[in-house]
Amino acid sequence: TLCCSALLHLGSDQAMQRAASSTPGLPRLPVPALQQTLDRYLLALQPIVSEEELNHTKGLVDEFRKSGGIGERLQQGLQRRARKTENWLSEWWLKNAYLEYRLPVVVHSSPGVVLPKQEFLDRQGQLRFAAKLIEGVLDFKTMIDKETLPVEYLGGKPLCMNQYYQIFSSCRIPGPKHDSIVNYAKGKKWSPHITVVHNFQFFELAVYSSDGSPLIADQIFIQLEKIWNTSLQTNKEPIGILTTNHRNSWAKAYNNLIKDKTNKESVRSIEKSIFIVCLDAPMPRASEDIYKSRVAAQMLHGGGSRWNSGNRWFDKTLQFIIAEDGSCGLAYEHAPSEGPPIVTLLDHVVEYTKKPQHVRSPMIPLQMPKKLRFNITPEIKNDIEKAKQNLNIMVQDLDIKVTVFHYFGKNFPKSEKLSPDAFIQMALQLAYYRMYGQPCATYESASLRMFHLGRTDTIRSASVSSLKFVEAMDKPNKQNQEKVDLLRRAMQAHRQYTDMVSALTGNAIDRHLLGLKLQAIEDLVSMPELFMDTAYAVAMHFNLSTSQVRRSQTDCVMCFGPVVPDGYGVCYNPMEEHINFAISAFNSCAETNAAHLAHYLETALLDMSPTILCLPGWGH
Ligand code: COA
Repeated sequence: TLCCSALLHLGSDQAMQRAASSTPGLPRLPVPALQQTLDRYLLALQPIVSEEELNHTKGLVDEFRKSGGIGERLQQGLQRRARKTENWLSEWWLKNAYLEYRLPVVVHSSPGVVLPKQEFLDRQGQLRFAAKLIEGVLDFKTMIDKETLPVEYLGGKPLCMNQYYQIFSSCRIPGPKHDSIVNYAKGKKWSPHITVVHNFQFFELAVYSSDGSPLIADQIFIQLEKIWNTSLQTNKEPIGILTTNHRNSWAKAYNNLIKDKTNKESVRSIEKSIFIVCLDAPMPRASEDIYKSRVAAQMLHGGGSRWNSGNRWFDKTLQFIIAEDGSCGLAYEHAPSEGPPIVTLLDHVVEYTKKPQHVRSPMIPLQMPKKLRFNITPEIKNDIEKAKQNLNIMVQDLDIKVTVFHYFGKNFPKSEKLSPDAFIQMALQLAYYRMYGQPCATYESASLRMFHLGRTDTIRSASVSSLKFVEAMDKPNKQNQEKVDLLRRAMQAHRQYTDMVSALTGNAIDRHLLGLKLQAIEDLVSMPELFMDTAYAVAMHFNLSTSQVRRSQTDCVMCFGPVVPDGYGVCYNPMEEHINFAISAFNSCAETNAAHLAHYLETALLDMSPTILCLPGWGH
C-alpha cells in the first residue's frame, strides 16, 4: 500500500515505474566520513567493553585517524573504489559474507521460513496445494519477467529491486576456496523447468508449454502425481545431503560427483531449474506448543538424515517445502538475496493458493517428468556418509524455539507513537541483560536497498542509552517515570541509528569498517592494529544476531541460526495484534537456551507495556 500511494503522487512517467533489474535514479551507496565512523565506533563500544579496553582502543583510533595516516589512505582507496564501481560494497559483501564463508550453508547461513499449517485431507490435497503453489510462484515470476512488479518503498524512498532478479534459476556452486553463484534466468541457457524432489529422488519438471505459457495447476498436479508414483521407494541414497556439508568438503565431493557424465547432467539440471519443490515425508508428530519450532527446524535443516535433510539441494536459492502432514515453508540460500524480497514472494504465493481453482478446457497429455539419475560410486557413498554424520551433529546441536507473543502486536507501540521495531529491540536488550547481567554486541540487519545494488548494514542495538534503560529497569529505587524516560530515550537512539543506516544517508559504521579492513588487504598494507584489537573482536562477536522480516498478510516467521557458538539468532515478524519470534541457539553451549530467552523476552515485553507501568501518558 505504501508503494501504491507513493506512486499516485508521481508524474505519469514515473507512475509507470515498475521494477526493472535496477531501479532507475537510485543514489549510489556513499562512503561515510572517516572521522564520523571512528567516533561512532567508540560510542558503540562503550556499553560492551571495559573502560580499560575502551581507553586502549581510543589510542588505536587516534593513531588510525591521524592526518596523513593509514586511515586516510584507506579511506581514499575506498572513495576511488566508489567512483569506479556501481556499489563499492556489494561485490565485497557477497564474497565476504557468503561465498568465502566456509561453514555449511545449513543452519549457519541459509534462513528458513515457517508458513501457516495447511489442512490437507490426503496426499491428493498435498499435491493439489503444491501444484497451486507452483502456479503462484510462476505468476510472481511473470511479474518479474515482464517488469510489472511495482517498485517497493521504505520510509517513502524507492528501493533497489535487483534482488528479485537474482532469486530464480540461480544456484550456489561450491568451490575449494570460495563458492560462486550461477544464474540462468536470462539468455539461451534458461530452461523452463523446476526440480521436484520426493523420497530423496530428483525430477526435472517442465512448467512451461512449448508456446511459452506456464502450465496451470491442474496440469502440474497430474505431473506431480506421476512423480510421486515413480518415487515410492524410500531406500534411495540421500544425495542432496552432500549440500549440507562444510563448503570445502562439499567442493571436493562435488568435483568427485560430477566426474560421472550422468551425475553431471543431473546436477546441472538442478542448478538450472527455476526453483525446487520438496515433497517431504511426514515428520514425527509434535504437540501444539512445539509444532512451529519443529517446522522451523525442518525448514532450516530437514530434520536429519533419517528424515528430510536428503530431500533438499541446499545450494539452490529457493526451495519450497510441502510435507504430507501439512507443514510447509521455505529454505533459501542467502547469497543472492535478503529476506524481504523472499517473503514478498511468499506472501504472493500464499494468497494465490487461496484463490479458487478455475475449471479449464481439456488438456493435452504432457510428457513424463524426467527422473534425474545418479551413479553412486563407493567414493560418493563415502562422502554421503560423512555428510550425514556432520549434518546429524548439527541437527542435534540446533536449539530452536518459535513463539508467538499474544498480548499485543505492532499496533500497541504504534498507537503510543513508538516505533515497534525499537520497542522489540529494547525488549531483547532487557531480556538479554536479565539473563546475563551485561549487554552484548547486538546486530540488527537494516536495509541499504535505497541505494543502487544495496544489501544491508548493521544497527547496533546495544547502545549507551539501552544500557542505562536495562540497568534501571529492575532497580527498586527507580521510579517508573524514570524508567519510562530511559526507555523512551533508548528507543529514540535506536530509531536514530536506523535512520543513519537507511532512511538518511547510509552512514552506519559496520560496512564502512569492513570496507577499510578489506581495502587494507587489497592494498597489501599491514593490517591496522585497530582491526587486531580485542575490542574489535568483541564488537564483531554478535551474541545477539537479530532481524525483523515483516509481512502483514501471511502469518509467517523467518528463522536462522546464531552467528557465534555462544549466541542467539532472533528473527521476528510483528503482526498487528501479535508478534512471531524464532529464536535459535546451540545446545553445545551451556550458557545459551532458546526457550529461556523466549521466556525472558515475553516478560520483558510485558514489563515494558503500560499495564505494568500503570503510567498515564506513557510514550507521549
Ligand atoms: N509512531 C507511530 N508509528 C510508528 C512510529 C512512531 N513513532 N515509528 C514507526 N511507526 C510505524 C511505521 O510507520 C510502520 O508502519 P506500518 O506498519 O504501517 O508500515 C511501523 O510502525 C513499523 O515501523 P518500525 O517498527 O519502526 O520499523 P521499520 O518498518 O521502520 O523497520 C527496519 C525498521 C530496520 C527493520 C527496516 O528499516 C529494515 O531495514 N528492514 C529490512 C530488514 C532486512 O533487510 N533484513 C534482512 C533479513 S535477511
